[in-house]
Amino acid sequence: MLCLGIETSCDETALALVRDGICIDSIVSSQVGVHALFGGVVPELASREHFRYLPVLYDILMERNGLLSSDLDLISVARGPGLLGALLVGVSFAKALAFGASIPVLAVNHLQAHLLAVGLEREISFPALGLLVSGGHTHLYSMSSALEYCLLGRTLDDAAGEACDKFAKMLGLPYPGGALIDALACRGEADAALFPRPYTQKAGGQTLDFSFSGLKTAALSHIRANPSLLGAGHLVRDVGVEAAFASGDLAVRALCDVCASYLLALTDTLLFKCRAAFVSLRESGALPRSFILAGGVAANTQTREMARLFCDEYDLELCVPSFSLCTDNASMIAYLGYLQYMEAEKAGFKGGQPLNFACFARGQKEPGDVFL
Ligand code: KG4
Ligand code: ZN
Repeated sequence: MLCLGIETSCDETALALVRDGICIDSIVSSQVGVHALFGGVVPELASREHFRYLPVLYDILMERNGLLSSDLDLISVARGPGLLGALLVGVSFAKALAFGASIPVLAVNHLQAHLLAVGLEREISFPALGLLVSGGHTHLYSMSSALEYCLLGRTLDDAAGEACDKFAKMLGLPYPGGALIDALACRGEADAALFPRPYTQKAGGQTLDFSFSGLKTAALSHIRANPSLLGAGHLVRDVGVEAAFASGDLAVRALCDVCASYLLALTDTLLFKCRAAFVSLRESGALPRSFILAGGVAANTQTREMARLFCDEYDLELCVPSFSLCTDNASMIAYLGYLQYMEAEKAGFKGGQPLNFACFARGQKEPGDVFL
């Protein structure tokens, strides 16, 4: 079973080939350089870039694997959530290819694909507790199997990745700042008392929802009170992390410490909710066997390390994908399509779905959608 995955939900144009659940090749064209000029993703530009690159990347991928479209058994495409125009490019491409070459197509959920991406590298034991932390989402799920989920909590404002990107912006660092903040934090020492762990107490009981606006505000106040941090941020922007750190500039050292403190507060907050979720699932008899950490922020060094400690504490198997599977990619889309197809086949269904499916934007809830 050879499945082509197509991912165009945000600013990466990605295609991948998964054969019987194993990725054989993938290709990603990042638009980061285009959007960095504007300090964030510009939706119209994202759609144009997908439109420009998707057919070219498809030809490269197929040619270098010596494949023709008639060799494909299935097409799996991300239908949302994401930027509507960007998704439309991928979905239209998938439908045209499916129609032209008579290949079944499945439209899959981008969030579910993130959560299951680690399945390309290792087996996941269920039930699992799943934390999806990306640029657009911070969602906590109880997953009884690869295809059955219950949403336990979600962010009420910024996503964890967004909170990193906005923090980076406050420091004068380029977009997207998550990986840069990580690189700086690795060179600094965290002060656990510098920033709050927002929304970890709520009148009337515990909530599994997240809120990062308080953390952002605290960071802004700290930067305003310490303007030399901004100068250090500009130095990092201009010469890079390595050179700025090697300069021995004290403000750069302070910047590294602040980044470490910020990521500690963010990760503490994320894992506080995971602990609460674990305890409540355990009490209800649905003891999770593994913890899935997924999405772009799962690439963060500190978050990965602290997730390992969390899993050791509660005897959970840690399922975190390698870096290239944390951020947006098409292997996870192809893999999910493959899983769904096999499941449908077991239930006696054959083929893909009718070509009249639509895309859906971030925040738009689909009927029966358990992910948002
Ligand atoms: O999953 P993803 O590629 O795209 C979405 O679906 O949103 O996640 C991108 C997000 C960005 O906010 C980026 O800053 C963040 O993941 N990110 C990181 C790291 N690498 C990427 N955040 C913290 N530390 C990192 N190492
Ligand atoms: Zn994503």
